[in-house]
Formats: sequence, C-alpha cells, structure tokens
Amino acid sequence: MKKFSIVIAGGGSTFTPGIVLMLLDNLEKLPIRQIKFYDNNSERQKQIADACEIIIKEQAPEIKFLATTDPQEAFTDVDFVMAHIRVGLYAMRENDEKIPLKYGVIGQETCGPGGIAYGMRSIGGVLELIDYMEKYSPDAWMLNYSNPAAIVAEATRKLRPESKIINICDMPVGIEERMAKAVGLSSRKDMVVRYYGLNHFGWWTDIRDKDGNDLMPKIKEHVKEYGYSLKEEMEESQHTDASWMHTFAKAKEVYAVDPTTLPNTYLKYYFYPQDEVAHANPEYTRANEVMAGREKHVFGECNRITKAGTAKGTTLEVDEHASYIVDLARAIAYNTHERMLLIVENQGAVANFDETAMVEVPCIVGSNGPEPIVQGKIPCFQKGLMEQQVAVEKLVVEAWTEGSYQKLWQALMLSRIVPNARIAQEILDDLVEANKGFWPKLS
Ligand code: NAD
Ligand code: G6P
Ligand code: MN
Repeated sequence: MKKFSIVIAGGGSTFTPGIVLMLLDNLEKLPIRQIKFYDNNSERQKQIADACEIIIKEQAPEIKFLATTDPQEAFTDVDFVMAHIRVGLYAMRENDEKIPLKYGVIGQETCGPGGIAYGMRSIGGVLELIDYMEKYSPDAWMLNYSNPAAIVAEATRKLRPESKIINICDMPVGIEERMAKAVGLSSRKDMVVRYYGLNHFGWWTDIRDKDGNDLMPKIKEHVKEYGYSLKEEMEESQHTDASWMHTFAKAKEVYAVDPTTLPNTYLKYYFYPQDEVAHANPEYTRANEVMAGREKHVFGECNRITKAGTAKGTTLEVDEHASYIVDLARAIAYNTHERMLLIVENQGAVANFDETAMVEVPCIVGSNGPEPIVQGKIPCFQKGLMEQQVAVEKLVVEAWTEGSYQKLWQALMLSRIVPNARIAQEILDDLVEANKGFWPKLS
C-alpha cells in the first residue's frame, strides 16, 4: 500500500500538534511515510516541531520527520500540503478585532473589516505556498484551511485557476456534530446534508439520516429552543471557550430570521452586529482569549514535552474533529467519492447565483478533485445577502491585485457589518496604517 508524504504549512500553528496526533490516530485510513513542517517563523515552529518529533518517535517511529523554513526542502517529494498559515500572527488578529471596535463596528477574524484586513494579508502568503508546491511537487494537492477562506478561495480561483487547491472549513463539521448529538445520533456521518452559501455564510436546507428520514424538524425544534447549544456539552477540542458557547446559543436568534433553513453560526455577525459590539470588550477580544488560552497551553505543553524528552501524560489532544482533513486526503488518494462540504467555484451549483462565485456546497470528491452537487435555486433573502457578501469578497481580491484603495473602501462599505461610507473609510485608514509591510501598497 502506498504511504504518503505530507507537509504541514504553518508548522508553528496552535492546531499543528492536534492535527499530527489526529494523523497518527488515522494511519490505517491514511498511511504516512513522511511528515514535514514548513513555516516562515523558525523560532515559533521549532517549539511545536521539537515536541511533535518526540510524539512521532513514540507513536510511529517509521515516519520520517523534518521541520524547515526552506521551501525547497519542505515542498519536495510531497503528496499533500495541509495549509493553515496566519499571516501576521495573533498580534495582527488583535488589530483586526480592535480597530473596527474603536468605531463601534464588530471586529472579527473572518467577517467584516477584520476579515477583509486578514484577507489582504493572507492572499500573498497562500499564493506563495501554491507556487512552492507547483515548483517542487507538481502532482501534489493543497488542502487549505488558512483563513479567511472565502477571500483566499476567490484569490486562488482568479489568480491560480489551474492549481490543485481545495479550500475547506471546519465550521459546518462542528455544527453538524452538534446537530447529530442534539437528535441522538452518534456521529455527523450518520447524516446526509444539503447546504449552500459562501464560507462562514451559509444554510442547511435538508438533513436526513442514512435511511432517508427527514431530520430537519427535530433539529429545528432543538435550535428554536437552544440554538446549537447542547444540554450536555460534548467533548471537543476546538470550540469550547465561553465565547463559543455564546455563539452556539446565539444561533437561536439567527435561526428565527429564516426558520425554513438552519444557519451557519457566523451569520450572527451579519444579522446582529450591534449585539456583538455590545457583548465585546474592546480591550480584550477573541485574539487575547486565544493567546491566553490555546496558544499558551499548546506552546507551554510542547516546551514541557521537549524538556521532558517524552510526551507521556501530555494534555495535548487528538483534534478528532479535524479528521475531515483525512477524509479529504483519502478521497483524493483512493478515489472514495466521499460527500463533503467544500468551497468551490459555483458554475451552476447554486443555479440563480454568479457562476464565478466561490460557494460552499456539498461535493463528491475523487482523485480528480471535487464535483459540486447542484443545490438548485435559492430564495430572495439568501440570494440578496450572498450577492452583497460575494461582492465584498471579489472587491477585496481586486483591491489586492490592482493595489486599489478605492475598491477596498467599497468592499468595506458593502459589508453588512459596516454602517456607512465614512466609517468604512475611517476604519480603512487605520487598517492601512496597521498593515504596513503586509498589504500591497494602495493608491
Ligand atoms: P497560528 O498563528 O498559531 O499559526 C499560524 C502559523 O503560520 C504561524 O506559525 C506562522 O508563523 C505561520 N505563517 C504565517 N505566515 C506564513 C507564511 N507566509 N508562510 C509560512 N508560514 C506562515 O494560528 P492558528 O490560530 O493556529 O490558525 C492557523 C490558521 O488556521 C489560521 O488561518 C486560522 O484562521 C485557520 N483555521 C481555519 C479553520 C477553518 O475552518 N478553515 C479552522 C481553524 C483554523
Ligand atoms: C471555526 C472556523 C474557523 C476559525 C475558527 C476560529 O473553526 O471555522 O474558520 O478560524 O473557528 O477559532 P478561534 O478559536 O481561533 O477563535
Ligand atoms: Mn472556517
């Protein structure tokens, strides 16, 4: 049986150890001969890599391991690039969140002005990874979950149309796990879903069990009462902080706006921006929470493992919910035709929507990539929202490509989260200043 070689780009990510543990846990599904880490920050990556090297030696000594900042070494002889970079690190995420808040506008990692600012930083970073992959391993596939996925996906569609990159998000996976739990199923994989939207901006329209029984009424009953909160919280490594619990509860109010569908949690930022501002602490945002929580824990624990020389008794957890990445790699490697939600060019999947939009829809995935499944025509409400939002995403990519201040201002103003053109411009001018050295020069 063929064994695969994988490079994790963003080796210094807080998610890397959980993903490595998850890969080691799934070796019978996806055999691996080599894991490489690539990052452009050697000091950050080394802390994660030294611990992961010990973990791999203890669990699967036959797997070759290497961490490097040299693109040639990293991208040569690989089958898959698993990409999760954060250009600008948490320091810049903190700016993305805090600058809009100064103007009474929500600041968020992937939505509104924060997501736009992050997009302007990410595009170049992800394109660079694609170019390394194509130069050193032209047959490889990139599985990208670097954010903001919507903007990154539009940039890769437009600027690298022939590249073998698949953009994927874990939020639907996380929500579906909650839905399954709410109706007493043991796994989201017992459900078959229909869904459409943009990344962090979509809706479920149909959810059935494997026998074809309609689960929507029962799930809706739950969401109407509790949102995506569970009476008994589930064991999960990622979405556990108090702010996530608030998000899951808030889904109840998001659902109320259109009870014919079930919403993605991220729609709360677009439907109730003022509530989010009221709930935010402009001195202590999600970036601060993550730095004090996940980042501190992961780096602290990795350093401890390295010092101890063993991972025995570690508190690092298998990121089981990231096993969708293995499903995706398997689908390509073994032509499994797995049905998965992916971010792909529309081309008629949402029949009455821009063909060139990057939409999130169920796809059948095989060795030749994803085949989107037609979701048909969508109603006026969702269509109106999506048209406005996709224009934001397209304008950001145009602004990045052309170095256009005007287009970026238009993108900000068009975001539902921003109240008017003046505030959009004030936020933009602050973001330009904060992102010097990360954004292309705008004029
Ligand atoms: P992190 O800052 O801990 O890790 C990111 C790493 O990327 C850092 O080590 C950084 O040095 C590195 N990096 C930055 N720019 C780079 C470049 N140009 N080339 C190579 N490496 C570079 O961040 P994190 O919180 O662990 O998140 C990582 C990424 O994963 C983020 O983009 C985050 O939004 C994304 N994410 C996406 C999903 C999804 O649903 N799509 C889920 C979780 C996380
Ligand atoms: C979800 C989203 C990701 C996002 C993450 C943020 O999983 O799908 O796109 O990056 O949440 O989580 P954090 O814990 O960093 O705020
Ligand atoms: Mn996501």
